[in-house]
Amino acid sequence: MDQYCVFGNPIEQSRSPFIHQQFALQTGQKLSYQAQLVALDKFETAVTTFIQQGGKGANVTVPFKEQALQLCDQVSERAKQAGAVNTLSFSDHQIIGDNTDGIGLVADLKSHQVTLNNQRILLIGAGGAAKGVVLPLLAEKPSVLVIANRTLNKAEAIIAQHNNDRLCAKSYTQLSPSSFDLIINATSASLSGFVPAIPAEVIHNNTVCYDMVYQQEATVFLQWAKQQGARKIIDGLGMLVKQAAESFYLWRGVKPQTDEVLTQLRKALTDSGR
Ligand code: ATR
Repeated sequence: MDQYCVFGNPIEQSRSPFIHQQFALQTGQKLSYQAQLVALDKFETAVTTFIQQGGKGANVTVPFKEQALQLCDQVSERAKQAGAVNTLSFSDHQIIGDNTDGIGLVADLKSHQVTLNNQRILLIGAGGAAKGVVLPLLAEKPSVLVIANRTLNKAEAIIAQHNNDRLCAKSYTQLSPSSFDLIINATSASLSGFVPAIPAEVIHNNTVCYDMVYQQEATVFLQWAKQQGARKIIDGLGMLVKQAAESFYLWRGVKPQTDEVLTQLRKALTDSGR
């Protein structure tokens, strides 16, 4: 049976084995998919061993996505621009790297009927999560994509990499008095219970707000966005499932349906607090 895995540290919280096992059942693909906890200094060894054992592909999660890029013989343009790889494919003694996070986000937004073309988009954050989605968002041709970060020079560094006149970098205070059609929180602030200190006027009554973080309840950012009058709030659980579906497609050539798995994950997440 073809073997796949996800490498990470920590890894016990990973939903990827469940998602890929469901995809395999649904599409009739015979494969196994396990989570592998990797010591912080043993990523390369873990990948090599997995290949020697016949592994066909792997997902990579925190904190190994940048290291994974270095290990690849070939990488996609979107992985190169993201500076990170979340999907590895092993074939003919080659390690091929891709990054499906950004198309996962775009697919999730579209499944919520969120328009991207010609819209004003604000991306908050300039870490790995933000970098991973810039190219796929730009490909949808927004009228403007503003990257705002607490530390401005990190946002400026991303702009410098892209050479696209729809892109610009701003500090949080420089956002005033603009408003946006779509605001994506790609910071890790929600995980520690903080809302990025952006001015409330970025939200108008037709704004959609998205948080890449998902939790049992709406994240603090999404709660704040709702209080400011956002039209719609969406968390990152759908992005997780959609990026997995894109990885599965790269490996198996079959695109799984995501609705059922997403419903099951949402139920498990909601039930976990009861
Ligand atoms: P990741 O790979 O998940 O993006 P990261 O590279 O550590 O993680 O980046 C974290 C991002 O969240 C950064 O944009 C960080 O802002 P700074 O670059 O200014 O540090 C942002 N972030 C984390 N906590 C935040 C908070 N409380 N308010 C605003 N931004 C925050």
